[in-house]
Amino acid sequence: MPSRIAGTGRYLPAQVLTNAELSRRVNTSDAWIRERTGIGQRHIAGPGEQTSDLALAAAREALAAASVTAAEIDLIVVATTSPDMVFPSTACIVQDKLGAHGGPAFDVQAVCSGFVYALAVADRMVADGLARNALVVGAEIYSRILDWNDRGTCVLFGDGAGAVVLVPSAKPGILSSHLHADGRYRNILCVPGQVQSGAVTGTPYVQMDGPGVFKFAVRVLAESALEALAANGMTAADVDWLIPHQANVRIMDATARRLGLAHERVVSTVDLHANTSAASIPLALDVAVRDGRIQPGQHVLLLGVGGGFTWGSVLLRW
Ligand code: ACO
Repeated sequence: MPSRIAGTGRYLPAQVLTNAELSRRVNTSDAWIRERTGIGQRHIAGPGEQTSDLALAAAREALAAASVTAAEIDLIVVATTSPDMVFPSTACIVQDKLGAHGGPAFDVQAVCSGFVYALAVADRMVADGLARNALVVGAEIYSRILDWNDRGTCVLFGDGAGAVVLVPSAKPGILSSHLHADGRYRNILCVPGQVQSGAVTGTPYVQMDGPGVFKFAVRVLAESALEALAANGMTAADVDWLIPHQANVRIMDATARRLGLAHERVVSTVDLHANTSAASIPLALDVAVRDGRIQPGQHVLLLGVGGGFTWGSVLLRW
């Protein structure tokens, strides 16, 4: 049976860091950050908060919205690049904190495409009968893998989590998913550090070729959208809401322009959340569901792109 999203949820840590506050730490300005990225502020996890805590809070909201109990969840997939620890997976930690023991739980590591990857995998598992009710979460604490002295990267990211509950449905909610990767581009966005013999070797902070990432992201987001539309016999005119990875508004606007999609059809939360990597799409989805923009029967196109490089789409009928 196909699957559909029955509920969404989100969690953002209490501490907000504005551009103005950041400009007192590094040589930047609110005007530069807004003009180049559209970002106005980001949330920062507290010292006692782990990625699994953010995921758990978002998951609880999604479960309540779906009217599904934790005991009914038999699959947990967490998309994250900033897990609690090397292992076990953050998904297993979330499973224990939720008290939803027994079903499979695993992390998906596809950086900012992680949620689209996780949703695609969970959808197939529900469709194939391997699971009935799946919890899919994107959760990140990037503030701990940023070099706060590097203005080229520290202004771009934030912490947060978004979650959805997938259930089987006679009418398909998820119409298609398409996933891609090209490891030749792995060095333009990476955290190349390793834990080795009790010490961190290499750089444990985000390294990025900004213009390289920008060009790559705009190209593959547009290609990905066209691939999803062609597979469903649709055109951009059939898309009610485009929810691309929330890296920055210029990437999102350029993608919408390439597709001929009106700016108003793009859900953007980057001004308030910054780039929360795997959490950015489910966060934006939850915002647009809860504020009533996304209505039953509408088509929602999720587009992910991120380190690896990875990219892909999930097309939904709400
Ligand atoms: N504040 C002020 N000045 C800055 C800052 C900053 N925070 N960061 C860089 N600059 C300076 C640079 O040092 C450079 O100065 P110079 O000309 O004296 O050398 C100048 O601004 C221009 O730098 P560019 O990197 O060419 O600036 P650009 O217009 O390309 O904007 C940006 C940089 C915003 C990073 C852009 O390349 C971009 O959006 N790239 C995509 C990156 C992205 O979104 N990454 C997120 C992760 S990727 C993902 O999620 C898929």
